[in-house]
Amino acid sequence: MRIAMIGGGYVGLVSAACFAEFSTEVTVVEVDAAKLDALHAGRMPIYEPGLDKLVNDNVAAGRLAFTGDIAAAVDGAEAVFIAVGTPTRRGDGHADLTYVYAAAEQVARALTGYSVIVTKSTVPVGTGRRIAEIVHATRPDLEFDVASNPEFLREGNAIGDFMRPDRVVIGAESDRARDVLRTLYRPLFLIETPIVFTGIETAELTKYAANAFLAMKVTFINEMADLCEKVGADVHDVARGIGLDGRIGRKFLHPGPGYGGSCFPKDTLALMRTALDYGAPSRLVEATVAVNDARKSSMALRVIHACGGSVRGKTIAVLGLTFKPETDDMRDSPAISIIARLAGDGAVIRAFDPEGMDQARGVLPPSVEYCRDSLDAAAGADALVLITEWNEFRALGPARLRAAMRGKVLVDLRNVYDPVAMRQAGFDYHGIGRPG
Ligand SMILES: NC(=O)c1ccc[n+]([C@@H]2O[C@H](COP(=O)([O-])OP(=O)(O)OC[C@H]3O[C@@H](n4cnc5c(N)ncnc54)[C@H](O)[C@@H]3O)[C@@H](O)[C@H]2O)c1
Repeated sequence: MRIAMIGGGYVGLVSAACFAEFSTEVTVVEVDAAKLDALHAGRMPIYEPGLDKLVNDNVAAGRLAFTGDIAAAVDGAEAVFIAVGTPTRRGDGHADLTYVYAAAEQVARALTGYSVIVTKSTVPVGTGRRIAEIVHATRPDLEFDVASNPEFLREGNAIGDFMRPDRVVIGAESDRARDVLRTLYRPLFLIETPIVFTGIETAELTKYAANAFLAMKVTFINEMADLCEKVGADVHDVARGIGLDGRIGRKFLHPGPGYGGSCFPKDTLALMRTALDYGAPSRLVEATVAVNDARKSSMALRVIHACGGSVRGKTIAVLGLTFKPETDDMRDSPAISIIARLAGDGAVIRAFDPEGMDQARGVLPPSVEYCRDSLDAAAGADALVLITEWNEFRALGPARLRAAMRGKVLVDLRNVYDPVAMRQAGFDYHGIGRPG
């Protein structure tokens, strides 16, 4: 079977490599010349664990190729996946579908025969129907189907999530389209992955509902953490106490600085807009967005408070910049607003992130100093703030860390450290939602 993937970003590249691993012939179309050059040279344009080997092995096996030429890619492809970005549109919170519709038109012009045009990008309800109209208007002669196959992978664990997903959702409305997608996903069917066949609108909405629910769960435990601080309770015990209830579940109950990343912020906003547009407002999603925004802005204030009310002239070491560990993705990372505020208030920021520093340079204030490693960042700092819970930060010995610093303030926004051990090492430790 042959397919094409339009867009070689986090989702397109991982999906393409995994489909190739399932023995499908995949050609990825990428417009960004720098990304394409990197891929041709065997270098990954993003950081995702295991991706370089998976890509290079499948390229070597002749199952995976990259091109800027859409016509060559879609020729003979039984399915063409659209995996381009759907960022927030400026001004109104809607998903910006410019790239999706442009890709649909390009695909329509290039196809030479029947194919299923599948959205893998996260797209609002109605996008599939609109794509069908665009394709039909561009090529009235073309035989095609449109389908929705939203992607649920998590950055940092993307290959595992794609290869062993909890479920696959396929919105398709003809037997022919369902057959193509069933064949493509046959390796997952064989390992008994639930495959949920739905209509197109249902599949589109399912993706937003999943992300909004997870964002709400994170936001709920963050609010509980704030309450724990007021009443002297421990949020980790609360999370365990509720999470062991099978109806609630333990995942996504870790308190932190507020959700960020390439999906939750934009997808909650887009769902909120869709719900308003259709006259069925989602107050829960609206509250989630507002509470999370407020939380992200309040994190810098925690640091300022821990530093005695002002950070002017103080040196602050920041560990972790990406929105979560095991990715280089800085999109909507909580680090952005925290660092902007601290630097704006006159702090000197010395930052370290294992993979995110290249992307961080584009979004953080130019005054930020990027360091070799954690101890280099901590050297001479008055305060240390942990924003992203990379594993290597867990292993830092408290005594060495403390010895490297000038001051003793430690703000742990992910609760990775043991408060008792940190206080014994001489730190003035501030976690999230833990007593005293
Ligand atoms: N990143 C995630 O973890 C994740 C998870 C699930 C779903 N999604 C969704 O998947 C979609 C893609 O997200 P991403 O993070 O991979 O984005 P991304 O920005 O990393 O990748 C998109 C890529 O598409 C390329 N592109 C744009 N227009 C093109 C065109 N016409 N032809 C060829 N290439 C084109 C861009 O150059 C870019 O490399 C979004 O809708 C997102 O919401 C993302």
